[in-house]
This record gives sequence, C-alpha cells and structure tokens, in this order.
Amino acid sequence: MVSGPSMRGLCLLGALMSSPLVNAQEQPLLYLMPVPASVQIGTGRLLVDSKFSVASTGYTEPRLDRALERFLLRLSRQTAIPLSRKTGNSSKASLVIHTDHASKEIQELGEDESYLLEVTATGAKLSAVTPLGTLHGLETFLQLVEVSPDGFAAPAVTINDKPRFPWRGLMIDSARHFVPLDVLKRNIDGLEAVKMNVFHWHLSENQGFRVESKKFPKLHEGGSDGLYYTQEEVHDLIEYARERGIRVVPEFDVPGHSTAWFVGYPELASGPGPYEIERKWGVFDPAFDPTNERTYKFLDQFIAEMAKLFPDHFFHVGGDEVNGKQWDTNAKIQEFIKAHGLKNNQGLQSYFNKRLEPIVSKHGKSMVGWDEVLDPALPKDIVIQSWRGPDSLAAAAKQGFRGILSNGYYLDLGWSAARHYAVDPLSGAAANLAPEEKARILGGESCMWAEYINPENIDSRIWPRNAAIAERLWSPPEVTDPASMHTRMEALADRLEWLGLTHKSYHRQMLQRIAGPSTPEEFVALTTLASLVEPVKDYTREETATAEPTSATPLNRVVDAVPLESATARHFAELVGKFLAASCHDPAADARLRAQLTAWRENDAKLQPLAQRSFLVKEVSATSRDLSTLAAVGLLALDFVTKGQRPPEDWKAQQLAVLEQIQKPKGQLLLMPTPAIQKLVEAASAGGTCSSSS
Ligand code: ACM
Repeated sequence: MVSGPSMRGLCLLGALMSSPLVNAQEQPLLYLMPVPASVQIGTGRLLVDSKFSVASTGYTEPRLDRALERFLLRLSRQTAIPLSRKTGNSSKASLVIHTDHASKEIQELGEDESYLLEVTATGAKLSAVTPLGTLHGLETFLQLVEVSPDGFAAPAVTINDKPRFPWRGLMIDSARHFVPLDVLKRNIDGLEAVKMNVFHWHLSENQGFRVESKKFPKLHEGGSDGLYYTQEEVHDLIEYARERGIRVVPEFDVPGHSTAWFVGYPELASGPGPYEIERKWGVFDPAFDPTNERTYKFLDQFIAEMAKLFPDHFFHVGGDEVNGKQWDTNAKIQEFIKAHGLKNNQGLQSYFNKRLEPIVSKHGKSMVGWDEVLDPALPKDIVIQSWRGPDSLAAAAKQGFRGILSNGYYLDLGWSAARHYAVDPLSGAAANLAPEEKARILGGESCMWAEYINPENIDSRIWPRNAAIAERLWSPPEVTDPASMHTRMEALADRLEWLGLTHKSYHRQMLQRIAGPSTPEEFVALTTLASLVEPVKDYTREETATAEPTSATPLNRVVDAVPLESATARHFAELVGKFLAASCHDPAADARLRAQLTAWRENDAKLQPLAQRSFLVKEVSATSRDLSTLAAVGLLALDFVTKGQRPPEDWKAQQLAVLEQIQKPKGQLLLMPTPAIQKLVEAASAGGTCSSSS
C-alpha cells in the first residue's frame, strides 16, 4: 500500500493536459477533484453495465442506505443504465462498501473522514472508518466512471485518501439577498461532491434577518420582508447537510451589520430609531449598545434559542466592520468607555466580546468571529476567521487561537480559480509557525457575499471556482499545478450540472432574456461576446455603477449573466502562449488563432442589430466594437509575425494606446483576451524574433 502522497498518481493527474482517456503509457488519466492523498494506478478497468451492483457490510445506518440510493441514482443518470439496489450475496457485488463504525451523532470537527477505494477489473471495494469517509469514497468512485469505447468503466486504481484540513467550508450570505432553500440544497450537493464539510450560513445583516425566532418574532417579522427560513426549514437544511457529511455553522453578526435586528427591537441599538431594513450596500452605522445590560439579556435568550436550533458545536457571532459612529455620538456610551478605562471603540468592542463569549459558551458552543474579534484576553476556545489578510491567521495561531482562512477565498471578488488556488492557509506568515501553532489552523472557507447574486446566477458565482478552493483544503500541499487543476475543474463543472447545479445552464437562459427574440446568428454573436468578458473585479462594481446599486436593483444585465471567469479567454491566452513559446513557428496554432480572431472581428456586425432592439444588449455595444478592434489588432500582429516583417516605427505605440482604451471597463465588463493580444503586438514589434517576448 502506498503511504503519503503518491507522486506517481499526482503526476498522472498532472498529465491531464492531453484529452484522451489514456496517456502514452496506456495509463488511464484521472479527472479527480480534489486530488486524493494517494493514488496508485492498477491494470484494467471495472465495467459499469446493467449488472453493476452495490452491497454494504459492517456498520450501517439509514443515512448510509440513503447515500447508496443517491449514488446509484447518480450513476444511472451518468450512464443512463437503470440501476437499483439489489439485496443478496454481498461478496458478489461489483462495489462492496465497508464502514467500520458510526460517526458522531452531531458531526464534529476533526472526525475521521478517510477512505480506501480499491478498484480492480473484477470488482471494487470501498472501506472507511466512519460514514463520512464512505460518503467521500462514493464521490471519488463517481468521478472515476468515464465513457470508454466499449462502455462505461472505472479504471483499476487504489486510492488511499484523507483531508489535509479538518475545516473546509463555504459561506453563503443569505441576508443581503435571500437565497431560497432549494438553491442552498443544490449548493450543498456541490459541497459534498468536492468533499467540503462545512456550510457557514450568514443569516443576519443590515439588509435582512433571515431566521424565524419564536422568542423574538419581531426579528424576522420586521427584518426580512417575509423572506426568512422557518425553524422547520432550518431543521430540514441541517438534516440535508448532515446526510452529506456537512456541518452547518450559523452566523448572527453582532454588534455591527445589525440594522435588520433593530427594525423590531430598536432599544438594542446605540442610536435612536426608528430603523428600517437597509437597501443599499456597504458598512452602516447601527450597532448594538454594549453598555446596556438589556443587550446581553436579549442575546442570552436569543442564543439560547438558536443554540438549540443549530446543533453544531460552533456558533459564529460575526464581529466585523463596526464603524463606531453610533458609539461616537452617544454620550452615555462615551461616558462608559471612560469609566471602564476602555480607551476607544475597539476597547468597547473587546468589552462586548468578553461579555458575549461566556453567553455563547454557556449554551454549549465555541464562539467563531471574523478577525476583528481577535483579542488575547478572550478564552483560547474561540476560532478566528481571517478575512482582512492572512497575517491575522498566523497572529491568532501564535496567541493560541484556532483559525480558518477566508482572505483570498472571497468568491464575490471575481478572481480566477488559479488565483484562489494559489492561496494556502499555511503560506505567508503561517509558514513560519511552529508545528503546534500550525495545527491550530483548521482550514478555510470560501465566501459568497450576496450583493450581486440571485437564485439564478448564484451557482455560477460559486462554481466551478469553489472546487479549486476545495482542492486546496483537501489535497496534499504539493498539488499546485494550475493547468491540471483547470482541466479537472472543467470536467467537474459538467458533472456538477448533472447534480442539479445551474452554473452553466443559467447563462443561456439569461442571455435569451437579454436578447429577446433574435436570429440564431445574432444570438451566437451575443454568446460569443459574453464568453469573452468578465465582470469588473474586487469591489469596483460599486465604483463603476452609474446609479447606486440596492437590493431592488434588477440583476438582469450582461454583467450578471456572464461567468466570473472566462474559460474561452483563458484557452485563447494559452494558445497565444504556446504559439509564442514555439517562436511563432507553429502553423497549427497560427491557423487556430487566425480563425478565432477572424470570427471575433466579424462578431460586432452580427450583434449590432440586436443592440438596436434590446437596451441590455445596447449596454455591451461598445464592448462588442472593442472586440472587433481587438481582433483586428491581433490579426495585424499575426500577419507581421508570420511574414517575418517588422512593423512601422510607431505601430507598437499606436496599438498599445488602442489596447489601453479597450482595457477600460465598459458596462462594468472587462474584455478578457486583451492581455494576450498585447503579447502578440509585442512579439510582432520585436520583428519576428518573437520567442524573447513570450
Ligand atoms: C467581511 O467581509 N466583512 C467579513
């Protein structure tokens, strides 16, 4: 048996750049994501045909039975072979599953999630210590099954797998925009597929309070416009997640980000009411009054109720971005700060946290907070979630606190999968920690903040990029090749749609509404343009808005309909890179570049009639013209390069000036092939000896 990361297996995974199912050595290529801790390739493969059967031995429970039903349903969907569970001789089953013993009734941090999956030409065996490992192993088996020339099959392989970090989560903000339960459920299916094990549910904000409280009903009645989860729905979601090996950690953000609480309970705030649900985005002034005993009495009763509703051991209290303005303007609070020697607002928040932590603890929970709550005076039991920078994670670990990383994993910022993938919880300052300090870094969480999401586009803002973060948190740290990651992520992206996620299919629907009735040629032109743009990055969507966005702003524009990462532009950049690396002597790449650029140059003429009929297409009219111009520049550059001609003296400067204009966002969109075209221009200007600029 292999122990530790098998480099052989990882190399094979890394060799996935070529598309055939076998590589030169006739070894199967594996589209596994996340990459397992250890992979050993065997010989042959196990056919999945109508005789395929599953049996389980050892420990069993209803959750495992249902997991097997789901597994067979998915395998059936993938192969269109009707499969169902048959009872009978387990030793003859195609896949025999053995689970050793139960996992904890309420899933805990750090439980055994390992599994061993052995596939041979005659059968497969999945063994795990607990049902959590069994669930992970079933996902891996599904990822192994591929179409082949003579049927569906899983390659012979031995996979010995376990996670690198015990806390691998996704946070969804269902407060700024309400996210319906079915949308959350399909995303939890996605988490199961990539072996993430925490769903962090951000449930209260300035813009909404989203859980029914029986003790304080004015919270959801006043704070939600009727868009909240009943306690029954919360139970349902927690059960749904537990079935899939996923913990649910609720977050109720205090003392800031709290306007929606004060609609019903203005007496808890630090400034005079009345309050209304906030409709805009940003950081707002309302904050709990930490000097008022009523605040703690209320939070005690509220947390008592929520601690029962949410069984997980961890309870997130937010703590981020308190601007302190209500505290500054309240004379009584300023007096209190002085009387208690608290120095400033930060000292007051620290006082608040010291009052809050024993309440959370009294109700049986460990407190989690954003990095603002980091304070050496708090008990070491709390967990710090680092969002402002990775340094706070290392600082927390040094001070004896456990931590999880989210800085670098904000999905709403529109970063590429590769950029997220390069962020490691144990890099930077954390790399220099002592082993016992490193052990306090529990993992990380991607974050889906909800200013610009709705049920239609949310999946595309999370997937498939979240799979790259999931892999970072599960796989051995040596697994870092972005090319391999992209190839496997694209394969996974299709499989996630079979699960019911809509991160690919939503796009066509939205573009159809944006276009209205259109000819096939017009619609292809819109699709082509849409495949080459990305929304502006980081927080520039606010800055580039023509009108202040609010929760009432329709998310119906091209910027809302396009994925956050353009796969087409990335493939084009790879092709340009390949062409330049071959010193431009690659006729096949040259022909492909030319065909692509010619189509792009002609695209605008096909799109413009649509822009006359739809205001939403009109918004991208300038970007469409830019695409034509960009392609024309690229074609000119290619001509110089392939003819070995040096362009006129001032040509390069002129083209770069054109590209600079094109690079500016329009309609809050970026035209993504621009940097690759710039490389072609630079190569052409170098006079045909293009290899130096590749
Ligand atoms: C945060 O992004 N304010 C945690």
